Amino acid sequence: MGQNWNAEDYAMNSKGQLKWGEELIEKLFLEGNEAILDIGCGDGKISAKLSKLVKEGEVFAIDASENMIRFASGQFPKKLFPNLTFLKMNAIEINKLNSLKKFDIAFSNACLHWVKNHAAVIKGVRAILKNGGRILFQMGGRGDVGEVLSSIKVVRAMPAYRKYFENFAAPYYFYGAEDYEIWLDKNDFLPVRVELISKDMRHDGDESFKGWLRTAWFPYTDYLPKALRDAFLAEVIEVYKINHPADEFGNIHVKMIRLEVEAHAV
Ligand SMILES: C[S@@+](CC[C@H](N)C(=O)[O-])C[C@H]1O[C@@H](n2cnc3c(N)ncnc32)[C@H](O)[C@@H]1O
Repeated sequence: MGQNWNAEDYAMNSKGQLKWGEELIEKLFLEGNEAILDIGCGDGKISAKLSKLVKEGEVFAIDASENMIRFASGQFPKKLFPNLTFLKMNAIEINKLNSLKKFDIAFSNACLHWVKNHAAVIKGVRAILKNGGRILFQMGGRGDVGEVLSSIKVVRAMPAYRKYFENFAAPYYFYGAEDYEIWLDKNDFLPVRVELISKDMRHDGDESFKGWLRTAWFPYTDYLPKALRDAFLAEVIEVYKINHPADEFGNIHVKMIRLEVEAHAV
């Protein structure tokens, strides 16, 4: 599955990811001189925040999506963010940075559940980290968005949509702590914290919920002709709300299970 993101739409519909990113940044306890690799930087707003926090350091932000990198480079240009560099690169090729630069921190928010081969990512990350360097990742973990997935499954099976999903393959990889512990150990990392964390994602109504589904769940809607995509998402929302109605303020809640990984290179 290609990373066929609409970067502008993502930038406007990623409040949830931004909140998690900000919470994750706080756990870095930055001193201001670190070299940070941001893996799967998306529209670049979290990388830009990081670059402001490491005024004497620098941020290298990579993403597999050309649209995202083009958008991020336009939003956060070198002349305003001299210590921030965007580069189109797949997370499984991080080892290619090895000859270029060594980093103090590898950081990643809301990206790695898109990647199947985490063993390759961790191996690459170990190669580009300094000794004593560290990683802090948060991604969708085992059991994440289960109720959204169930609702999509119901709608996929509806007569209007079924035929388009005949060759459907699930696009996300939700791993558990025990998977990571093996990959960390094999690649000379000492785990500090590897845990599944439950989070509530709040959308202030159907439009906001649909905005998130439209931008981050394109691997599903891409199976459909463009003319059917909006109706499909509206149907998913209706099905979801049968079991998870909006709260008294009209907010729709989604139960998220995030896998957070903190480890030191040894
Ligand atoms: C939900 S966005 C998160 C963006 C940003 N980190 C944030 O928190 O707003 C996921 C990003 O991961 C990127 N991505 C997915 N698979 C990737 C891979 N194999 N290598 C690098 N980036 C990848 C996508 O292109 C997308 O920009």
